[in-house]
Amino acid sequence: MTQYPVDMSVSPEVKAFFDEATNTISYIVADPETKACAVIDSVMDIDYAAGRITYDHANAMIAHIQNNNLTLEWLIETHVHADHLSAAPYIQEKLGGKIGIGRKITVIQDVFGKIFNEGTEFQRDGSQFDALFDDGDTYQIGKMTAFAMHTPGHTPACMVHVIGDAAFVGDTLFMPDGGSARADFPGGDAGELYDSIQKVLSLPDEMRLFICHDYGPGGRDIMWQTTVAEEKSNNIHVGGGKTREEFVKFRTERDAQLAVPKLIIPSLQVNMRAGEVPRDDQGNPVLKVPLNGL
Ligand SMILES: [Fe+2]
Repeated sequence: MTQYPVDMSVSPEVKAFFDEATNTISYIVADPETKACAVIDSVMDIDYAAGRITYDHANAMIAHIQNNNLTLEWLIETHVHADHLSAAPYIQEKLGGKIGIGRKITVIQDVFGKIFNEGTEFQRDGSQFDALFDDGDTYQIGKMTAFAMHTPGHTPACMVHVIGDAAFVGDTLFMPDGGSARADFPGGDAGELYDSIQKVLSLPDEMRLFICHDYGPGGRDIMWQTTVAEEKSNNIHVGGGKTREEFVKFRTERDAQLAVPKLIIPSLQVNMRAGEVPRDDQGNPVLKVPLNGL
């Protein structure tokens, strides 16, 4: 087992940005001392029917960084999202910083490079990103040391990023009443997801957990922050000591009934390129729709 450098004495400032169109929560996490910050899981707006992309959500994050005199050092993707498009290159162009994701992105690029029939110009080595993280890798945000935990299951490249007493769990866990994310995408695995969730639940009880999606189950208000202790006792899919077998059975049955995410086709093509939009021979931005490919 990897020994992770947990340091609960560091407490970053966390600002959440909820995207109503995709139920995604993006974050700016800042070092109060040095004003260095990272953006986690940014969102580019798309009107898929119209083939139009815009940047209102990203612009709100950029404004927050500028208005608070923060310095952007990192743009982190917890995984290759299938339900929204990343705005990382757009924000990077304006504010700098490095785009990072889990090293297993290469697996995703290989699988979806085939599905989208990408040519040889589409590199499948993760080179579109500035940094590829392995389990336990550390990096700095100002004076804060962040580390990445490899948490496969939802996708092979999923990572949870921990910065002081704040963990950004991506789609590993939802709020306690939301449970967990699906594990039926190519390369997903319900058993692996259970093991990854146990890794997250082995962090200190008081660790703040920030989740990537919330759908307001039962009509409640949107929420995005919880703790390890709350998830351990109350998570409807894994809490209260649910076994791996129970979880795998439940997750597999549930996933068989879920619809394909509305934005999976544009999301994958953009996100596997670190947020860059694919281009045609003339350099125009385009998306493909492979028929009966997914
Ligand atoms: Fe996801």
